[in-house]
Amino acid sequence: MVETVTSGRSSNQRVDFKRWVPTFFSSHRTALILLWVVAFGTVFLWQQNLLEGLLMFRRASLRPFPKLRPVAFNFTDFGAVGDGVTVNTKAFERAISTISKYAKRGGAQLNVPAGRFLTAPFNLTSHMTLFLAEDAVILAIQDENLWPLMPPLPSYGYGREHKGPRYGSFIHGQNLRDVVITGHNGTINGQGQSWWKKYRQRLLNYTRGPLVQIMWSSDIKFYNVTLQDSPFWTLHPYDCKNVSISNVTILAPIFEAPNTDGIDPDSCEDMVIEDCYISVGDDAVAIKSGWDQYGIAYGRPSRNIIIRNLVVRSMVSAGISIGSEMSGGVSDVTVENVLIWDSRRAVRIKTAPGRGGYVRNIAYRNLTFENVRVGIVIKTDYNEHPDDDYDRKAFPILEDISYIGTHGHSVRVPVRIQGTEDIPVRNVTFRDLSIGIKDKTKHIFQCGYVEGRVIGTVFPAPCVNLDRYDEQERLVHRSESQNVTDIDYEL
Ligand SMILES: *[C@@H]1O[C@H](CO)[C@@H](O)[C@H](O)[C@H]1NC(C)=O
Ligand SMILES: *[C@@H]1O[C@H](CO)[C@@H](O)[C@H](O)[C@H]1NC(C)=O
Ligand SMILES: *[C@@H]1O[C@H](CO)[C@@H](O)[C@H](O)[C@H]1NC(C)=O
Ligand SMILES: *[C@@H]1O[C@H](CO)[C@@H](O)[C@H](O)[C@H]1NC(C)=O
Ligand SMILES: *[C@@H]1O[C@H](CO)[C@@H](O)[C@H](O)[C@H]1NC(C)=O
Ligand SMILES: *[C@@H]1O[C@H](CO)[C@@H](O)[C@H](O)[C@H]1NC(C)=O
Ligand SMILES: *[C@@H]1O[C@H](CO)[C@@H](O)[C@H](O)[C@H]1NC(C)=O
Ligand SMILES: *[C@@H]1O[C@H](CO)[C@@H](O)[C@H](O)[C@H]1NC(C)=O
Ligand SMILES: *[C@@H]1O[C@H](CO)[C@@H](O)[C@H](O)[C@H]1NC(C)=O
Ligand SMILES: *[C@@H]1O[C@H](CO)[C@@H](O)[C@H](O)[C@H]1NC(C)=O
Repeated sequence: MVETVTSGRSSNQRVDFKRWVPTFFSSHRTALILLWVVAFGTVFLWQQNLLEGLLMFRRASLRPFPKLRPVAFNFTDFGAVGDGVTVNTKAFERAISTISKYAKRGGAQLNVPAGRFLTAPFNLTSHMTLFLAEDAVILAIQDENLWPLMPPLPSYGYGREHKGPRYGSFIHGQNLRDVVITGHNGTINGQGQSWWKKYRQRLLNYTRGPLVQIMWSSDIKFYNVTLQDSPFWTLHPYDCKNVSISNVTILAPIFEAPNTDGIDPDSCEDMVIEDCYISVGDDAVAIKSGWDQYGIAYGRPSRNIIIRNLVVRSMVSAGISIGSEMSGGVSDVTVENVLIWDSRRAVRIKTAPGRGGYVRNIAYRNLTFENVRVGIVIKTDYNEHPDDDYDRKAFPILEDISYIGTHGHSVRVPVRIQGTEDIPVRNVTFRDLSIGIKDKTKHIFQCGYVEGRVIGTVFPAPCVNLDRYDEQERLVHRSESQNVTDIDYEL
């Protein structure tokens, strides 16, 4: 019985096939291709499954928490629940209060396991390591009533957006030493969407808070973590010393995520930012040091900063910026091996009358621009002021700036350096510059009130303001036209 049925069915199939095959497969070749596709697909899917299985295995068993301090705590032991709904503020407070008791014994580590840990803002303590497992997410609560208000930064006088107090940062620290935030690339997520929306609708009464802000602290390290969707600036070290940031990924939407700067070293000294990927809704990095008369009075420069091996994107602003708040001065900055892609501007120094201060001894080396509107920018009329009481005669000094090894393609305006009579740009050096341009070929190396030199041949042809030297650094032509202004914002 069974056999009969089976054979009957298969003979039917065979009959079907005989009719089917010639109509669908016009030639042997199509049939063969189809067979290949099926075979390939099967192997591919099987490999995918195997790979995923291996990855899961690795995640589950091969990545235990490393012990980076004498003592390590499991966040769940403080009552934390990573379900994305439970609010874990008390758990963080308990954990950090416990860790603070280990300060004299080498500090302690807080391990955050996989899960989504929702919390209100909280404060860090000295000698602590926050370690985020691979799938750990610390999620910022969106209700602004749970964000504490803090006094404005002294060097800004104001909240950057409103007078009076400002929202504190999501993860905050002040007067600390020896703090590490790291992990197996876990995430700190600011859930900034609601803040950006309220900001645009003018519903906020105070300046938005950064994602992570560390103030008046030293020996701070960030590595192997992801920072995402900050309400405002993402990582803001303020008046700190010895800060290192490496292998950090910083993400925010490239449009409509207002002021989501990646990293803002602000009145900081001895800092390294390296091996990071940053793609955000404002400057990827912006070195600052206070705002107009408040920054001048506070008087703390940003200096001795190395930025290297980054890949950055900023569709609305710039890859690497200095300013516009630079009233305490910015000096001794090296920016090297940086790729800036799909950005409005690549590297920009921005300032204005009223800022005072200086930007000096800045070296850019080995920069690559890909699909950038304006490559190298110095802008001296960035007129945003905290109030009307700024000193109109406080002119910033811009000098000793070099661009060595600048390459790229699809750049509309490779250079736009716009000094003014009051804020001339002095001692600028270009060497080994070749930038593939997008369309126009005239007026794309734009200058005004610039004094400096070009060494060797550069492309595109430099503006008349600059002296020309040959490869052996012998003077070929001295410019008489430093004060000529040829800036075209239409390009
Ligand atoms: C942390 O605690 C949770 C819940 O008690 C447990 O499942 C997990 O294995 C612990 N992790 C470590 C590294 O001890
Ligand atoms: C963190 O500490 C600062 C300074 O003491 C304080 O103003 C702020 O309210 C604290 N933030 C939280 C969330 O407790
Ligand atoms: C870390 O996570 C981010 C966001 O998920 C991802 O884009 C990045 O590639 C990861 N980095 C590493 C080194 O795995
Ligand atoms: C801003 O202030 C107004 C008037 O006091 C108040 O109605 C509103 O709720 C406040 N908005 C926020 C987000 O706190
Ligand atoms: C900088 O901080 C690191 C810890 O992040 C520490 O090991 C190092 O000694 C500090 N360097 C200086 C010069 O204090
Ligand atoms: C950071 O992550 C990278 C890539 O996973 C890894 O090679 C490196 O060892 C990590 N750094 C530390 C200090 O664990
Ligand atoms: C950064 O990651 C690279 C490899 O991805 C690794 O070699 C390096 O040690 C990491 N740096 C830190 C500080 O973790
Ligand atoms: C220049 O920077 C790129 C990254 O943008 C890097 O791959 C390359 O090795 C650097 N070249 C030198 C000579 O350091
Ligand atoms: C010009 O700037 C370079 C650094 O870019 C510096 O080495 C040199 O001393 C400066 N020249 C003068 C005259 O200040
Ligand atoms: C060019 O402008 C600078 C700064 O305003 C001024 O010091 C200098 O005398 C001017 N040079 C000429 C040739 O006009």
